[in-house]
Amino acid sequence: MTGPTDWVRHAARADWPGAAAALRHDLARDPSSATGFANLGAVLVRLGDPAGAVVAFRRALALGLDDPGVRYNLGTALRHTGDAAAAAAALRAALACAPGHADAHNNLGNALRDLDRPGAAVAAYRRAIRLAPSDGGDRSANLAAALTLLAERDLDAARRAAADWRAEAPDDPFAVHGAAALEVGPVPARAGDAYVRGLFDRFADEFDARLDRLGYRAPALLADALASAHGPPTAAFDLLDAGCGTGRAAAGFRPFARRLVGVDLSPAMAAHARATGLYDAVEIAELGRFLAAHPAAFDVIVAADVLVYFGPLDAIAGAAATAVRAGGRWLFTVEHDPDQDDDPRTPPRLGPGGRYRHGIAHLRAALAGAGFEIDEMRAVTLRHEGGRPVAGYLVAARRPGPTGTTGDDR
Ligand SMILES: C[S@@+](CC[C@H](N)C(=O)[O-])C[C@H]1O[C@@H](n2cnc3c(N)ncnc32)[C@H](O)[C@@H]1O
Repeated sequence: MTGPTDWVRHAARADWPGAAAALRHDLARDPSSATGFANLGAVLVRLGDPAGAVVAFRRALALGLDDPGVRYNLGTALRHTGDAAAAAAALRAALACAPGHADAHNNLGNALRDLDRPGAAVAAYRRAIRLAPSDGGDRSANLAAALTLLAERDLDAARRAAADWRAEAPDDPFAVHGAAALEVGPVPARAGDAYVRGLFDRFADEFDARLDRLGYRAPALLADALASAHGPPTAAFDLLDAGCGTGRAAAGFRPFARRLVGVDLSPAMAAHARATGLYDAVEIAELGRFLAAHPAAFDVIVAADVLVYFGPLDAIAGAAATAVRAGGRWLFTVEHDPDQDDDPRTPPRLGPGGRYRHGIAHLRAALAGAGFEIDEMRAVTLRHEGGRPVAGYLVAARRPGPTGTTGDDR
């Protein structure tokens, strides 16, 4: 037999099925309880039933509970059912009663982004951040993503918003990197650690599914390049997967590796890499510092889609030359900027998406400066975005040495 407050005891134990059953029992006895329906909606959200929650929240409102919190919950649940237009309407109704509700502004931004209205989404996220500064948190990541979308439609508007945001939040890594990407802030030599970590820690759980949808090929292209340079895999190399992410390159490179090490700045990405079970070790570290601290430790270093977070490659090429043994190889991909193919002095450009693009002249100069010879450098398609191929370069470089890459020579 459940009493009217039993649901609270279930909820306190995070027993959401029990809480829902208790609330339904109460509501069967008193179907006019608006707060009962509002509570049931909140419990159904916990149970991952947004459609059921929408019905419950609407019932609470129909019974006269005109509460901005219920409208906010309704809007959020509606978005999770996929009805972004209704979600935006409910969130606007919540904000009409509670204009200072930062979460409602943020979730309105999410709904507007779903509705392909990046300008309005940017405005909503900016209001949310002004009300409750986010300093590199989820709202900052949301605003940065919406600015990238807005830049495709209305570059000037995106630049204005990015410049204002950076002025208001000069310590927010997303504001700083976003302003640089839209050319309204100084361009760093590489994406900052806090930005990279913040971006990929958030992205880690959906990374593989997203890249599968984009037809991402960099790890496979690099494994093929190593096979053509070396021949069939012989499990001979001490091999570093630099910027290993979730470990997508591991399956292709494991057969070549006596020891396979991954390194990445993002703990969440590294956790996925570890979970593959294919690495001997996965370290959480900044790549340049890691390489400098491991002199002559590897026969092969691969970096799939990682140098897009580095501008000029001179320093990282020097660090790779330190970590790779004489005769060893460094294989990587970059995104290609054909406008920069001729002049090695033009700094690589940071694009609106926050990734650097490199030209051939700079690639050659940076590799030569670090003492690498180029075995292969060819144009490749890295993935597709919006149905369009993303042009890149695959580079296989080698440190001159007496034996070439054998894994046996120290
Ligand atoms: C686009 S993902 C590619 C991941 C993986 N290589 C792949 O091909 O699936 C880029 C990865 O590089 C890492 N990264 C970027 N800059 C880094 C740095 N300076 N040091 C270490 N890892 C970095 C990110 O954390 C992220 O996991």
